[in-house]
Amino acid sequence: KVPYVVSSKSYTAVAINCAAKAGEWIKSRLGTVAQLSTKTSAQDLVTEVDKGAEQMIRKLILTHFPDHAILGEEGVEPGPEASAQALEAARQEEYLWIIDPVDGTTNFVHGFPFFSVSIALVHRGEVIVGVIYDPSRDELFVAEKGKGAYVHGNPTEVSKEEKLSSSLIATGFPVETSTLLPQNMAALQALVPKVRNVRAGGSAALHMAYVAAGRLSGFWEVGLNAWDIAAGSLLIQESGGTVTDLNGRPYELSVRNVVATNGRIHNAILDVLKEASTGS
Ligand code: IPD
Ligand code: CA
Ligand code: CA
Ligand code: CA
Repeated sequence: KVPYVVSSKSYTAVAINCAAKAGEWIKSRLGTVAQLSTKTSAQDLVTEVDKGAEQMIRKLILTHFPDHAILGEEGVEPGPEASAQALEAARQEEYLWIIDPVDGTTNFVHGFPFFSVSIALVHRGEVIVGVIYDPSRDELFVAEKGKGAYVHGNPTEVSKEEKLSSSLIATGFPVETSTLLPQNMAALQALVPKVRNVRAGGSAALHMAYVAAGRLSGFWEVGLNAWDIAAGSLLIQESGGTVTDLNGRPYELSVRNVVATNGRIHNAILDVLKEASTGS
């Protein structure tokens, strides 16, 4: 299935292998979920497939690189504080794999074919490999630091849109309703009239891969975790785009409120988001 040849021992080859194997298995489990449970709220779902895919990826990584560290969504206590603590501890490691075994669990549970496997390799705090695999479309997005980004072997490039009015952008709706959801709704209300339209597909990682591939000109979301963003951030940077927090600070692993664009519309989106948050 892997469309182009990379040394079988390289980090990238292992990342691709993990994403492809897990993705194929996840797809084979569509419609068969037996254990559906919730985490922080009734909308925050997890299944045996999320856990199984994470186990499969961990095992494969450790077979090749037994001394590497792994931070995976299903290996961390649910909730923003525990995630931040786990990231803080793990980011000290020389080599750290950050994995989201199923990004878009709600879609997976409902058979809505927009979910992905997201895998990043971080070296001393910097993302050096990012792989996002969409098993429904068999689309594999791969980025290597300094070497570009590809979808099925073809270089990806961000869109050329210069204006918000001709930009298609995406977001996701946080399940935390006391501060994050109102913040996101204010942003949405401010942006919808200014852009061509807004999509909310339900996989942050895949939205970021789509920004890298020029299918979306921008994406923003609040309250994400490192496993949602790390791989996508490298894909976008290597495709010529820009990834920051809401204040325009460059992406780093602890960013949770992300703005990711083709670069050309970045400041315009940041301005609208800022206005929306201050109500001015
Ligand atoms: C979720 C998806 C969704 C986003 C949520 C994430 P999960 O990840 O990326 O699009 O809106 O904020 O938590 O839980 O399906 O891996
Ligand atoms: Ca989840
Ligand atoms: Ca996720
Ligand atoms: Ca997940």
